[in-house]
Amino acid sequence: MNRPIVVAMTGGSGVSYGCRLVEVLLQHGRAVHFTISPAATQVLQHEMGRTVDLDDFQTEVLWPESAVSFESLDYYHYQDYFTPMASGSFLTDGMVICPCSGATLSATAHGASRNLIERAAEVHLKESRKLILVQRETPLSLTAIENMRLAKLAGATILPAMPAWYHGDQSIEGLIDFIVARILDQLDVEHNLIRRWGEND
Ligand SMILES: Cc1cc2nc3c(=O)[nH]c(=O)nc-3n(C[C@H](O)[C@H](O)[C@H](O)COP(=O)(O)O)c2cc1C
Repeated sequence: MNRPIVVAMTGGSGVSYGCRLVEVLLQHGRAVHFTISPAATQVLQHEMGRTVDLDDFQTEVLWPESAVSFESLDYYHYQDYFTPMASGSFLTDGMVICPCSGATLSATAHGASRNLIERAAEVHLKESRKLILVQRETPLSLTAIENMRLAKLAGATILPAMPAWYHGDQSIEGLIDFIVARILDQLDVEHNLIRRWGEND
């Protein structure tokens, strides 16, 4: 039986990756527990022109043109610890932070747990569940590299938003789907978003 997948968006560039990830998970019939940081709303405004109200969250704002049903999406406020994902007793098939800012990477590596996103990340690490960090920064400071090392040692998967260009579709949508496909692979969600290396046209 499939369990929900936790998706959190934080204030890294590339919020489009997170939006597409949620859409594809729902398309594949997966339940999503979703949360988003205040910094991510700033990036959403800047990069996608979407004005998200964290206290009155509406899926139509984040996914205005999507044909997907959002019935299986549960939204949780980033300061609300009275939520399933805040506890290890709530079973999931993993958590993805996409995009993952340097700030949230740092907090995750050090177990800061200052908000629901960081708490849920800590829970996934302590329960030895999948935690995928889609980090977006370049160049990398030694601090960021050390934080990635720590998070990796603690059990996280570091999956930088670093699309390859070899898979045939170099449109923006194709490059976004390349990263989403690699996340789905980590989550063991079957998909045909991209042509795999070695597959024929
Ligand atoms: C438009 C915009 C783009 C940003 N891009 C990045 C980025 O690519 N990587 C990053 O680590 N932080 C980026 N930041 C800064 C983070 O949003 C900031 O460090 C924030 O404190 C992260 O908070 P959060 O992790 O709680 O979301 C960006 C901020 C804005 C407004």
